[in-house]
Amino acid sequence: MTEDAVHSDRARRARQLERFEREFGAARRLRRVRAPGRVNLIGEHTDYNDLPVLPMALQRDTAILFAPRDDARVRLVNLDARFGAREFELSASIAPFAAGDWGNYVKAAAEILAREHGVTRGFDGVVAGDVPAASGLSSSAALVVASALALRVANGLELESRAFADLCARGERYVGTQGGGMDQAICIHGRRGHAVRIDFAPLRLAPVAMPAEWRFVIANSLVVADKSGSARDAYNSRRASCERALGAVRDALGEPAARYPDLLAMHGEDELLAAGARVLAAEELARFRHVVGEGLRVERAVEAMRAGDERRFGELMDASHASLAGDYAVSCAELDRLTELQRAAGAAGARLTGAGFGGCTVALCRAERAPALLAALDERFYGPRGAASEAFVACASDGAHVEE
Ligand code: GLA
Repeated sequence: MTEDAVHSDRARRARQLERFEREFGAARRLRRVRAPGRVNLIGEHTDYNDLPVLPMALQRDTAILFAPRDDARVRLVNLDARFGAREFELSASIAPFAAGDWGNYVKAAAEILAREHGVTRGFDGVVAGDVPAASGLSSSAALVVASALALRVANGLELESRAFADLCARGERYVGTQGGGMDQAICIHGRRGHAVRIDFAPLRLAPVAMPAEWRFVIANSLVVADKSGSARDAYNSRRASCERALGAVRDALGEPAARYPDLLAMHGEDELLAAGARVLAAEELARFRHVVGEGLRVERAVEAMRAGDERRFGELMDASHASLAGDYAVSCAELDRLTELQRAAGAAGARLTGAGFGGCTVALCRAERAPALLAALDERFYGPRGAASEAFVACASDGAHVEE
C-alpha cells in the first residue's frame, strides 16, 4: 500500500472502532478482515463457460471489524448511511431480505457455511467499503468473501483457498444470479503487482506480472448494473443461451461430454464456428461466437502482457468490447462512449468490464498518459453530465486476508 492508502485505511479503521463501541459496546477482542474488489482486464462471460479470465484485485475493498459471538446471531451496521443495520440468525436455510438488499450478500456467506461446514457462531460487526456498488467491480463478491472470512474466524474454520473461492462463488448464487467463479477467485487470490489468469473446473491460478509502465484506468459509466436486481435476468439468460449452444454444438460434433475448452482444444475456432452456424439460430450463434473468441483472446492477452506488448493487449481489449457490444449485447451507449473517449485520449485499448449492462470500463495506457486520460474523461464525460469524476487508476493488490 502507498502511504496515503495506509493513512486512509487507519482513518477508516478508527471510524469503524468508534461505531463498533457505540453500537455493540467495548471490551471484546476485535478482529478485522478485508476483501478487495476487482477489475477484469479481459475474458468477459467466459468463466461460467469454463474458459479463462484475466482480472486483478483492486486497492478498493470491503473491511469488516467484528467480534465473534457465542450464539448464532449476526448483527451488522455499515459506515455507509445508505445501508441500514441488519441482523439475522445463522442456519442452513436463511430466508432472504427483500431483493437487492445489501444484507443478502452476508446471508449468502452465512447460509452456505452453516449448511456445508456446520458453523454456529455469529458475530457483531461494522462494515466499511469503498468499492462502488453495482458498477462491475465486484463489490458484491468483496462483501460475500469478507463476511465468509469473518465467519470462518469466528468459528475457527480452516479451508484451502481454492475450496474457499468455490464455496463463496456457489454461496453468492443465493441472491439469484447464476454467476461464474471469477469474482470470488480473484478477490481471494489477488496478488500485488500482478494480474491473475484464472481457469475453471478445476480452479487454477497463474499470476502474470504487470509491466511497470502499464496503467489501467477505470471509469464508471454512472449507469447502475445491479446484479441482484435489473441485470439479473439478462445475465442469467446469457448463461442459459451458452449452455444450450454448447449442447447443440457438441451433439453436432459427436462429443457428448465436452465442455467449451475441450471443444476448442479438439476442433479449433473455425471448425467450432462452422458447426455452430449449422445448428444454432442467429442469436445463440452470436452468443457462442463471443464466448469462443473471448476465450482465445484471453490466451493471447496473457502472452501480450508477458511480452510487455501494450499495443497488442490494447487491440485485444478493443476486440473484446466490440464482441461484447455486438454479439453478446451487454453494452450500452454510456459504456461505448467511455471506451471511445479513452481511445481518443491515447489509450491502447478500452472495454467494458464485469457483466456489463452499465457499470465500468477499463482502458490500458502508459503511465505518463494516465493523467491526460483522467482529465479527458472529466472534461468530456463527467463534466457535461454535471457529475464528479468517477475514474481512477487501478493498482493490482493482494487478495482477502485477516488482519491481526
Ligand atoms: C459477473 C459474474 C462473473 C462473470 C462476469 C462476466 O461479474 O459474477 O462470474 O461472469 O459477470 O464476465
